[in-house]
Amino acid sequence: MDKQSLTAKTVMVIGGTKNIGYAIARRVATAGASVIIAGRDHASAEAAATELPDATSVRLDLDDEATIAEAAASIPTIDHIVITAAAHHNAAVTDLEQDRIVGAFHAKVIGPLLVAKHLTPKMAADGSLVLFSGVAAWRPAAPYSVMAITNGAVQFTTSALAKELAPIRVNAVSPGIIDSGTYDRMPADERESFFAQSARSTLAGRVGVLDDITEAVIWLLTAQFVSGETIHVEGGARHS
Ligand SMILES: NC(=O)c1ccc[n+]([C@@H]2O[C@H](COP(=O)([O-])OP(=O)(O)OC[C@H]3O[C@@H](n4cnc5c(N)ncnc54)[C@H](OP(=O)(O)O)[C@@H]3O)[C@@H](O)[C@H]2O)c1
Repeated sequence: MDKQSLTAKTVMVIGGTKNIGYAIARRVATAGASVIIAGRDHASAEAAATELPDATSVRLDLDDEATIAEAAASIPTIDHIVITAAAHHNAAVTDLEQDRIVGAFHAKVIGPLLVAKHLTPKMAADGSLVLFSGVAAWRPAAPYSVMAITNGAVQFTTSALAKELAPIRVNAVSPGIIDSGTYDRMPADERESFFAQSARSTLAGRVGVLDDITEAVIWLLTAQFVSGETIHVEGGARHS
């Protein structure tokens, strides 16, 4: 069977306002899809959408079910949803704050479940969901336990939803360290040494770039015989 084309498909990217999410939005637009950028700050989502050829925006906060329901009510049909959101709480276990742990689970697990609840009834049978996990789940290190646990939970969420929502496909991407823009706020020398250290902990000998992730997402969106999988795009970091 031919791979599905993204031409004339509608793809929502939750977290599409910046970095990996925005790169995915741009890449699926290039592949001919109509894009809906969903973000908790509508002004940012709107600004991101104006940069793309065929894009609209909607307010959607994964912490707030009402906004997910409202976003679903405003959309007649949808083909694919990609959720890149993260709300990391990087702290030693002795310093953890309950609301920030809950926030981290909202972005990665609870919010995506509620997105499935409200939006999959609008989805085509040949549509798909792509969630985002991360290499921290497979390489736990202090003080990143919440990141490891939430990213690990994404793999089980992916598998359970793939079973329940079939024939809609559900997959996840688990990135390694990606020069995505998210580290731009670090001082340059600190970022350089973080990237050098991260590159050494891969088999590929480098950190990832946005194209590494966007190509994996495009493949998952169109690979009609793939469901329930977590695809590791991390240069072999789990094996190094
Ligand atoms: N970059 C890496 O090296 C790396 C490594 C491993 C895994 N990952 C995973 O890959 C994904 C994308 O990474 P990234 O670097 O692009 O992340 P990022 O820069 O932190 O961007 C995350 C996006 O999620 C949005 N978001 C956060 N909480 C939300 C909520 N409650 N509702 C709706 N949107 C929300 C943010 O919106 P605002 O603009 O409103 O904050 C932002 O657009 C994440 O899941 C991350 O854990 C990334």
